Amino acid sequence: MDFEQIKSLENKYVMRTYNRLPVAFSEGKGARIWDTAGKEYIDLVSGIGVNILGHCHPVVVEAICNQAGRIVHTSNLYYIEPQAELAELICQHTFPGRCFFTNSGAEANEGALKLARKYHYDMGKPRKEFVCLKGSFHGRTLTTLTATGQPGKWAPFMPLVPGFSHVTLNDVDELESAVSEDTAAVMLEVIQGESGINAASHEFVHAAREICDRAGALLILDEVQTGLGRTGTLFAYEQTGVRPDILTIAKGLANGVPIGAFLAVPDIARAFNYGDHASTFGGNFLACAAAVATLETVINEDLPARAEKLGSRLIGELRSKTGGMSIVKEVRGVGLMIGIEMKKNISREVVVGCLDRGVIVNAVTPDTVRLLPPLIVEEEEALEGIEVMVEVMKQWS
Ligand SMILES: Cc1ncc(COP(=O)(O)O)c(C=O)c1O
Repeated sequence: MDFEQIKSLENKYVMRTYNRLPVAFSEGKGARIWDTAGKEYIDLVSGIGVNILGHCHPVVVEAICNQAGRIVHTSNLYYIEPQAELAELICQHTFPGRCFFTNSGAEANEGALKLARKYHYDMGKPRKEFVCLKGSFHGRTLTTLTATGQPGKWAPFMPLVPGFSHVTLNDVDELESAVSEDTAAVMLEVIQGESGINAASHEFVHAAREICDRAGALLILDEVQTGLGRTGTLFAYEQTGVRPDILTIAKGLANGVPIGAFLAVPDIARAFNYGDHASTFGGNFLACAAAVATLETVINEDLPARAEKLGSRLIGELRSKTGGMSIVKEVRGVGLMIGIEMKKNISREVVVGCLDRGVIVNAVTPDTVRLLPPLIVEEEEALEGIEVMVEVMKQWS
């Protein structure tokens, strides 16, 4: 099918939830991707931080093909070898605990919130409340939408789930006064991705840990976007020195095959018993085989260190190239999670300009362009992509 045929089918049969860019891709390799007309692009978004090993990484392709030819799905009524293997691998590289596997980031967060309530219920003192952050993003199910601190997304879906409040990022006093003996958990992202790459200070994460400990509340860290090496360590929490009680993971875990997970320390994981939570597809053979291959590659090739080094280089380059540009307000980021904030709401125009010139960047907010390149992107191709983006931005400077 050519692009116009795809577009006309979509316009007729698919719900209009995505304001799509005018392109359909059909093939990818590494950090390169091709559209249906054969035009080549440098991909600096990697499917919103999902294709961390780039497109069609040979190790993941092999794992998917091998698994698909043996068995794909049996349900969680039975034991699943790659699920058990993946859970061990995740725990070995984070902290001792137990995992539950989902199909997405929202489901991982939904499960984490349920687990927190169940933990307090089992302790004999049910706690209903959750404290989250303004500007956060945790998903689109009704509960994770409620946890998401973006009121603009709430209005059509009222009433939301009761028990959630939101405090300002990096405001320790506000957090302190919001957390009480009724708080089941505090949930936060170490770096907020969807609000335009806004990092929690390490002091704030430490304070969150202490406040939770004093109140007997749990600390849930949502590493759906920051996880799998993107920020320079396998998970961003490692850089803060704070360990969460529950960690949520998704996006990059299986390099594009849908999967999510939440991991809890043993005392909390124990709260989930037979029948408390379930997912038909969660942790199936195919997704877990792809995830084992992805995670092993990230670890064996020390890709977090690569992300840290290359990210510093790219951020430095971006700062020096945009330093004199009146349109650019700030370049910020950690590792390969980078935001370029502008003084006008032109990020969509920048994205379209880059697309025309064969470079994929993302308009995360109206005024901020986000880069989430695959961790394997070559330095030269990332620099080439950045050069194009800066050229595009010059028309507003
Ligand atoms: C931090 C964070 N949490 C949760 C989600 C939701 O993940 P999913 O879209 O897989 O449900 C996202 C997605 O962007 C995210 O960035």
